[in-house]
Amino acid sequence: MDEMDFEDRIVSTSEIPEDISGSDNPLRPKTLDEYIGQDKVKENLKVFIEAAKQRGEILDHVLLYGPPGLGKTTLSQIIANELNVNIRITSGPAIEKPGDLAALLTNLSSGDVLFIDEIHRISRAVEEILYPSMEDFAIDIITGKGQMAASYHLPLPKFTLVGATTRAGQLTAPLRDRFGVVLRLELYSPEELAKIVTRSAGILGIPIDNDGALEIASRSRGTPRIANRLLRRVRDFAQVMGDGVINCDIARSALDKLEIDELGLDANDRRMLHAIIKFYNGGPVGLETLAAAIGEEAVTIEDVYEPYLMQIGFLSRTPRGRCITLAACHHLGVGYPKGMTVAEPTLFSSLNDDQE
Ligand code: ADE
Repeated sequence: MDEMDFEDRIVSTSEIPEDISGSDNPLRPKTLDEYIGQDKVKENLKVFIEAAKQRGEILDHVLLYGPPGLGKTTLSQIIANELNVNIRITSGPAIEKPGDLAALLTNLSSGDVLFIDEIHRISRAVEEILYPSMEDFAIDIITGKGQMAASYHLPLPKFTLVGATTRAGQLTAPLRDRFGVVLRLELYSPEELAKIVTRSAGILGIPIDNDGALEIASRSRGTPRIANRLLRRVRDFAQVMGDGVINCDIARSALDKLEIDELGLDANDRRMLHAIIKFYNGGPVGLETLAAAIGEEAVTIEDVYEPYLMQIGFLSRTPRGRCITLAACHHLGVGYPKGMTVAEPTLFSSLNDDQE
């Protein structure tokens, strides 16, 4: 099958080198006030950060979860910045052995933030020493074997762990329970994304009007990382085919050429929706079955495709599997499959069912 990996797509939510990543990314907001959207998360974080600072204590451990590309790393940097402390950034798979985590922790200064991305991917052995680190700020290290075995109690500086995951349901209960603050990031509304696009365009010196920003925003699948990437591509079209200014017309024709439709769906989204209609009469179809049918990983479907398709009411998750909705059929210009169970969009509610 001639397939494009999701990572290669312009609407991929994975970070790519072109996204100008890292702490020197000029598009990355540095304070909570600069950060657009996620109002509930911001409000709560502000209180927790202020309270910790007033008491002169460290901030409780924070778990951020939600679909990729919504700004979990950015938020962790903002947390460190607002607390006036340093941040160390790592990821679950990068911490291979308990010793790697011990090395990271012993090098922190008191009050620092340790950010672990994809925390659901840490190994059991590492998780075992993460518990006492989080709870008691100390670890017990055993060296040697048999009669030579010795145990050392190693006190650690107090630190705030900020964990990020796309799948809170995959964390073990003991790990989840050790986070005092658990925050869920939501997909952004087109209006919020338009503000982000306008802000980014300002920083990058790209002229854009409100309708141009809204056009890019509404095709960015609720994800700032995608919006900022589309902004750069549309800028190329505006420069070569227009006068350099991004307006609605230029944005529209550029995004049409990139084959990203009015709602931000690309060929792969449409292929998945068509597969549910054609092969499974609109559903319900089990996640694994669907994954095999379209040649994708089940986790990619869950983390990347589904959140947005459910948000816009094109797909619903039922206990018996995934179902297409009437709205999706309309959008694709196909009839509603005959004899199919009518599954109406559960909109945001279905997003809240964390799948274990
Ligand atoms: N760039 C990426 N995410 C952002 C956000 N939430 N607010 C402002 N700028 C951003």
